[in-house]
Amino acid sequence: MPGIIDRYRDYLGIPNIPAITLGEGHTPLISWATWEQSDIFLKLEGTNPTGSFKDRGMTVAVSVALSEGAQAVICASTGNTAASAAAYAGRAGLPAFVVAPKGRITQEKMLQALVHGATFLTVEGNFDAALAVVRATAQANPAIALVNSVNPWRLRGQETGAYEIVDELGQAPQALVLPVGNAGNISAYFQGFRRYGRGIPHMFGIQAQGASPLVAGYDFENPETIASAIRIGKPASKHLAQEAVAQSNGAFLAVSDEAILQAQRELARGGVFVEPASATAYAGLKVLREQKRLPAGPVAAILTGTGLKDGDTPRRWVDVKTQSTDADHLEGTIRALLKEGTVHVAH
Ligand code: F0G
Repeated sequence: MPGIIDRYRDYLGIPNIPAITLGEGHTPLISWATWEQSDIFLKLEGTNPTGSFKDRGMTVAVSVALSEGAQAVICASTGNTAASAAAYAGRAGLPAFVVAPKGRITQEKMLQALVHGATFLTVEGNFDAALAVVRATAQANPAIALVNSVNPWRLRGQETGAYEIVDELGQAPQALVLPVGNAGNISAYFQGFRRYGRGIPHMFGIQAQGASPLVAGYDFENPETIASAIRIGKPASKHLAQEAVAQSNGAFLAVSDEAILQAQRELARGGVFVEPASATAYAGLKVLREQKRLPAGPVAAILTGTGLKDGDTPRRWVDVKTQSTDADHLEGTIRALLKEGTVHVAH
């Protein structure tokens, strides 16, 4: 399967340039449950090449940057953008500079950026501070392409998540639920549904309570949440996201860290391991269910990134224990555990 550029070139409106691709997109849309009249689908964006939805935007941003003669790419990141930028820059043969808030991104995401050869820089403060410095650097150096979602090509590429859902369901879902940090992805999906012309879902943007400027209506100076990917106080695409929610008759909602961990656990017990930021969407879905705000018909939640990039967080709820055994005792041990009822899958 080709990546998203070759599948959707006409919709993306990009010139006839070679695609820098790692085969991103065509991620699974799984049927998860039926809740009253709503059919719940989960889109597993963690199955993209670098483990998050960022690859959809990055393939376009890096392809365009290379064709326009960029000599390097730069981004600020809470981790996933950094990993994606590093991988696609590697594919393109371009150097990548990634700037992260010091000590605030997971080890796995940092390693990903480094193995792909990126230069990893840290700044004191949060993501918002990092984004401010990379914007200034890119502005002063036209040969360095900024590949954050303030780059319109990133949003174009991320629209393809909406196209795929429509292709699969035959129409837009009734509601779309997704986590919101810098607010690029919700804006891209809205744009995508609009462009594809098969209906627009109610857009529900879910934020972590401690980093919920779009719910509160004001910026957060010190955003704080366990969901490090969306620990953002001043979303760059705030206005686009507000428009998406207002025009689609949706809403922004905040969920607690506790609810995020519970959602992560519930998904994992059902076979779907996502990072906390992605579990935020599922926690929001549950709130909408409780409040009886889910429309009848198909409802999709975007699970933006794999759980494998944040190994530490699940330790807060998973019982990390193993039992040693040997060939002679394995069967007896399992038999005893099953009998005790201590081994089971609980949702
Ligand atoms: N989910 C995950 C896993 C993310 O990494 C991000 C953002 C979001 C959701 C929110 O998307 O910013 O478009 O509203 N991560 C960025 C990064 C900020 O640097 O990787 P958004």
